[in-house]
Amino acid sequence: MTEMIQPTGGGVGAFVNGIDLADSPSDNMVGELRNALGEHGVLFFRNQNISPEAHMAFAEKFAPININRFIAHVDGYPKITQVLKEPDQKKNIGGGWHTDHTYDTEPAMGSILLARETPKHGGDTMYASTCRAYETLSDSFSKTLDGLKATHSSRHVFGPQARYVQKNEDTAGRLGNNEAATQDSVHPLVITHPISGKKSIYVNPGFTTGIEGWNDAEAEPFLKILYDHIAKPEHTYRFQWAPGSIAFWDNRATWHYAVNDYHGERRLMHRITIEGEALAA
Ligand code: SIN
Repeated sequence: MTEMIQPTGGGVGAFVNGIDLADSPSDNMVGELRNALGEHGVLFFRNQNISPEAHMAFAEKFAPININRFIAHVDGYPKITQVLKEPDQKKNIGGGWHTDHTYDTEPAMGSILLARETPKHGGDTMYASTCRAYETLSDSFSKTLDGLKATHSSRHVFGPQARYVQKNEDTAGRLGNNEAATQDSVHPLVITHPISGKKSIYVNPGFTTGIEGWNDAEAEPFLKILYDHIAKPEHTYRFQWAPGSIAFWDNRATWHYAVNDYHGERRLMHRITIEGEALAA
């Protein structure tokens, strides 16, 4: 297995070679991939033009599928989220550093994103390792994080007060179901990763709203220090897509950012998100 897994050379992620995801992987292989995901945070696969059925079957080898409440699904496949930007649209989905579903009390483990149509240039996705970012904090600073809890919400991103609703942005139609954006959660600011046992900084600019017991004037600059640190180039890798490429990321170990630099071209991705668990320090 180890020769199949080739680290990216960046701060996060590994390529998985010599595997055809159209064939259902053995339980042994699933175990190896799960461990590799824990170790590297995101796994990249090339040339996997698999059917939606094979995509779902692969995901379900890891955990039950979690249906996203707010992003439109692929026609005929309610379990597959459609991440789409048309040539005449300006806003993309996921165009800022975030990790998915942290507003849930049992946040999704991760997503398996499959490229169906990609622009000629651009449309990359950036990933950052929140585990590596923890390791590169000074010992003294990391001690200040002990025992802290962060608050997260879906309301400001997907609710009726969300920017895309208020400003009538062109993601309307691709995003929706505003009234269902009622999730608020509290998680340890540093979690122990459920697979690798590594420490991971579990806050993100998308969904984190503050630090429990702190006022905004205290929490905002403190979170900004962490956000700037996690996004350092040393912790990141930028993945270039082609049709059939897959990225399988672990939300508890990474952030991601869909780069919006391909106006006038179509980008269509199929995303399956899988269930996770409550997180502990
Ligand atoms: C997402 O945030 O899930 C979308 C990522 C992408 O389209 O690259």
